[in-house]
Amino acid sequence: MKAELICFNAACRASYAITAPMYNCSACGGLLEAAYPDLKLDPIALKEIWRDRRRNNSIIEQSGVWRYREIIPFLDDPRHIVSLREGNTPLLNAPRAASYVGLDEIVFKHQGFNPTGSFKDNGMTCGASQAMRLGMTRVACVSTGNTSASMAAYASAAGLEPIIFIPHGNISYGKLAQALEYGARTLQVEANFDQILKLVRSLAEKLGIYLLNSINPFRIEGQKTIIVEMMDQRDWNPPDWIVLPGGNLGNVSAFGKALRELKHHGFISKMPRLAVVQAAGSAPFYDYIRAGKGQEFRSVEHPETLATAIKIGDPVSWPKAEFEITSSNGVVESVTEQEIADAKATIGLCGIGCEPASAASLAGSKKLIAAGVIAHDADVVAILTGNVLKDPDYIYRYHTGALKAPDGSDIKPNFGNKPVVVPNDEDKIAALLANWN
Ligand code: F0G
Repeated sequence: MKAELICFNAACRASYAITAPMYNCSACGGLLEAAYPDLKLDPIALKEIWRDRRRNNSIIEQSGVWRYREIIPFLDDPRHIVSLREGNTPLLNAPRAASYVGLDEIVFKHQGFNPTGSFKDNGMTCGASQAMRLGMTRVACVSTGNTSASMAAYASAAGLEPIIFIPHGNISYGKLAQALEYGARTLQVEANFDQILKLVRSLAEKLGIYLLNSINPFRIEGQKTIIVEMMDQRDWNPPDWIVLPGGNLGNVSAFGKALRELKHHGFISKMPRLAVVQAAGSAPFYDYIRAGKGQEFRSVEHPETLATAIKIGDPVSWPKAEFEITSSNGVVESVTEQEIADAKATIGLCGIGCEPASAASLAGSKKLIAAGVIAHDADVVAILTGNVLKDPDYIYRYHTGALKAPDGSDIKPNFGNKPVVVPNDEDKIAALLANWN
C-alpha cells in the first residue's frame, strides 16, 4: 500500500515520504495530509469485518481507531501502535436537548468517553504510533488543555518523553492535572495559544522534537475514525448534519476528509453537511466565511472565551476547514458565552454533561434551527468533544451565579442549581425538602 504525505494546496500537491517528520510543505508552506493513491476499499466486505472485530479482545480490535485501520493505512508495522482502547464513544439520545433547540430529535456523539476524556485520543493514538515508527524519543505540543492531557498519556504509555506548552492561567485545572499526573514536562508559558504554537514549532525543529499538534497529519487520520465509527453505529445511514465546535479547526478537517473518503469508496451515498460553531470572542473562521469569497483570513489577536479549549485566534487548519465546509455545503456559526453556558447546563440536565467548548455544538444548533438553516425534523448528530469533569470550576460558578464572561459581565444561571448548606437537623431538612420547588 502506497502512503505518502502530500501538500493540501491544490496548486502545489508536492509529495513527500510518509516517514518525513514534517508538518508543512517545503515547496509552498501549505498544510500536509496523508494520502493513499492506490487505495481500493471494498465497503461491503469491510462493513462486516469492522463489525466482527468488536468481538475480538485484542487491543487493536478493541480500539475504535485501529479497528478501522484500512481507512487510515499509513503504518507499515502494527507493532508501532500505541493504544489505550480509544474511541468506542457512544451515540446518546437527548430528548431534553432536542426540545431546547427545537428539533424533533438530537443525538450526541460523546467523545468525552475517551481514555483521557476528549476526542484528542482518536488522533493521538495515531500521532504517537507514528512517533514510535519514526524512532522519536521526545514529543511536544502546545495546547488549550485536552491535546496536552492526551499527548501526555499516550507518550508516557509508549515510553516517549512528553513536553507540553500551555498558556499560563488559561487552561482548566482538570486538564492541567491530567498532564501532571501522566508525567509530562509541563511548561506554562506567559503567552496565548497562537503565540506559543509559533514558539513550539521553532523549538521542535531546533531540538528534533516530534510535534503532535493537529498540524500533524497523523492526528487528522486518527480523528477521521470518529466519523467512521459514528457511521458504523448508525448502520451507515448518514445524518443530515454533523455539528461540532471549532478552535484550531483540526477536527472539522478530519471529519470532512473522512466523509469524502467514505463517499468516494462507496461506504455512504450521501454527504452530511458540516456545521462548525465558534465562540463569539474567538471566531476568526466564522468572520472569514461570513465575509464571503475573496476576503483575507484575519486572525483574532486577543481571543476571549470561557470555553478555553477553543480560545484560539489564529487556527492553523483554516484552509482545510474552508475546503471541507465548501465540499459538504456546510456552515459556520458563532455563539455567545451565555448561549454556551445555558446549552451546557441543558446537556447536563440530559444526564450527559460535557465541557464548555463542547456545548457550542448545542448552542450553535439552536441558532441554526432558529434561523431556518437546520430544519426542525433534520437528522442531527452533535459532537460533544470533552468530558463534563474537565472544567468543574466553570460548572460550580455557573450554578452558583458566580460565572463572569471575559468582559466582566455576569452569566445568568438560567438553569442554575445551587447547593444548599443545611444544619444537621432532620426536621429542618424535611421541611426544606417539602417546600423545594
Ligand atoms: N472541543 C474541545 C474540548 C477541544 O479541546 C478542542 C480543541 C476543540 C473542541 C476544537 O477542536 O481545534 O480541532 O477545532 N482543543 C485543542 C487543544 C486546541 O489544545 O486541546 P479543533
